[in-house]
Amino acid sequence: MTTDPLVVFTPSGKRGRFAAGTPVLTAARQLGVDLDSVCGGRGICSRCQITPSYGEFPKHGVTVRDGALSAWNTVEERYKSKRGLKEGRRLGCQAQILGDVVIDVPPESQVHKQVVRKRAEAREIVLNPAITLHYVEVAEPDMHDPSGDVQRLQAALAAQWQIAAAQVDLALLPRLQPMLRKGGWKVTCALHHGAAGVPTVIELWPGLRDEPVYGLAVDLGSTTIAAHLCDLRSGAVVASSGLMNPQIRFGEDLMSRVSYAMMNPGGAAEMTAAVRDGMNTLFAQICAEAGIAATEILDAVFVCNPVMHHLFLGIDPFELGQAPFALATSEALNLTARALDLDLHPSARVYVLPCIAGHVGADAAAVALSEAPDKSEDLVLIVDVGTNAELLLGDKSGVMACSSPTGPAFEGAQISAGQRAAPGAIERVEIDPVSKEPRFRVIGCELWSDEDGFAAATAATGITGICGSGIIEAIAEMRLAGIVDGPGLIGSPEQTGTARCFADGRTHSYMLYDGSASGGPVIAITNPDIRAIQMAKAALYSGARLLMDKRGVDHVDRIVLAGAFGAHISPKHAMVLGMIPDAPLDKVTSAGNAAGTGARIALLNTEARRLIEQTVRAIHKVETAIEPRFQEHFVNASHIPNSVDPFPILRGVADLPEVTFNTGGDSGGRRRRGRRG
Ligand code: FES
Repeated sequence: MTTDPLVVFTPSGKRGRFAAGTPVLTAARQLGVDLDSVCGGRGICSRCQITPSYGEFPKHGVTVRDGALSAWNTVEERYKSKRGLKEGRRLGCQAQILGDVVIDVPPESQVHKQVVRKRAEAREIVLNPAITLHYVEVAEPDMHDPSGDVQRLQAALAAQWQIAAAQVDLALLPRLQPMLRKGGWKVTCALHHGAAGVPTVIELWPGLRDEPVYGLAVDLGSTTIAAHLCDLRSGAVVASSGLMNPQIRFGEDLMSRVSYAMMNPGGAAEMTAAVRDGMNTLFAQICAEAGIAATEILDAVFVCNPVMHHLFLGIDPFELGQAPFALATSEALNLTARALDLDLHPSARVYVLPCIAGHVGADAAAVALSEAPDKSEDLVLIVDVGTNAELLLGDKSGVMACSSPTGPAFEGAQISAGQRAAPGAIERVEIDPVSKEPRFRVIGCELWSDEDGFAAATAATGITGICGSGIIEAIAEMRLAGIVDGPGLIGSPEQTGTARCFADGRTHSYMLYDGSASGGPVIAITNPDIRAIQMAKAALYSGARLLMDKRGVDHVDRIVLAGAFGAHISPKHAMVLGMIPDAPLDKVTSAGNAAGTGARIALLNTEARRLIEQTVRAIHKVETAIEPRFQEHFVNASHIPNSVDPFPILRGVADLPEVTFNTGGDSGGRRRRGRRG
């Protein structure tokens, strides 16, 4: 008795014996090997390319001889002459197994291929989109056996792809009959695989479609809306674009938008219309950039904070403005683009990530998906800094989340010379601890202010103000140089030994840049500026500290700063201020736009959607507003860096002078109570 030939697939290592004459594609399917196919083995899509190897393979215990696969056939020849095929490649649906063979599946033939991410520690993205393409040959109508076109399409999907009971989207029905006839009963279907498990045909093209299909990953922020257009077959980002959130005209921050909705009848609906309009403008922009039509976009994923989530969905955010901060729904949502007035494909699907809690939104869920604290071996604190900081603390034994009302000071608001990060804004500051003289850098120029050529290099932008990262560095450097004390008071010229400190009302200010001689601005750090940053950083730290209390720890192993602002903060300066807990500086990293990355992962992998839904359910939510210790932590954290927590690691790398500028008189004395600045 002869044994059937043995087939070993690489890189999966899957192996099995098959009767001689079995096509490689059939063997791959039976073994669960990831080998793509759109045409279902008809030799027209070329998705099933494989590379056979010949010779001795002791590792696999196989010797592959010439003739292990059937000879090159006319279908392959036709494909090669028309479209080209790399040397050594075969079509898996055409090549039949005749002898023992080792077969490599190249990455481009794998459906669930890995999408490369730049950061090594980040979660891998395996391609498994909600949209799949399937070529089918549908039976023609027959008067003797009457049946609908939809039913024959369903029968073809069941017989040729083992996809049973596929639904057909209502919006497609009017186009279904002409499309089937145009294609001569041969069509490519786009199937959407939703949460319910029943796939839906949402588009048809005549014949074999060999073009990409697209999806959008959208990060809907209070200030900006950012979108990535992705090719759902390769996982590649084809174009990225952003837009200011048009809701800004109703209020800069979230709470002012909630109040707008409360105070103006129809205000919430107005903001819903504005954000949806803005989305459509952004989609048109990104499609123009990629040279595609918006109707080619079949799937979209959205992440946003709870207020934006509600306004985008057309829900009045009233309840989010008051305790107990109840969400209308915290579940993930599977919707159609049509229901949200989005100008995409008429049957395009939309997935909105779940919210974690009333103040911790789908954006934090997306950060959790991207940074995977629930998979971390060590204890990680993830901080997404914005007008509302969202914090996650945990490891693989459990994750907790909270939000903290930092307010807009980190974005340069409430700061006397503050501005948004834009060319001309001071973004880096150093102060000499001996001379107390500052030097700085502005956005748009690589030179420091004391380097030759600085004046010429900044002539076009000017020096216009100080942005969030600049104010953090300035105050931290002032603390390191002994210009500001632990409670946050700026010393007098006599106390600090520098004329840059000057009396400014009842307190003192520090002159960073005086451009008044040439008609430019005066950029000084005032005591109210320091106070605003103290309030913001104390809120952030207290949130982190509260999570650490709940976890029963007094330090974390590493800290990840997420968000655009997080990418620009210097870890050392943030720690000198006491914004973030004490940790080795090399363990404080930036994750960039982790929420946007999370949206992209959910777009490219439907498994990830199920995963984050489970993870979010398991995240323990901590509501800072009702925690008595929050207030206590807040008061301690108002000190720079902290009046109670010792920060031993920081003190090992930075000298924090023990200066005190409160002389007990009226000039500096002030009491700080509570969270209001
Ligand atoms: S499966 Fe389409 S060419 Fe082989």
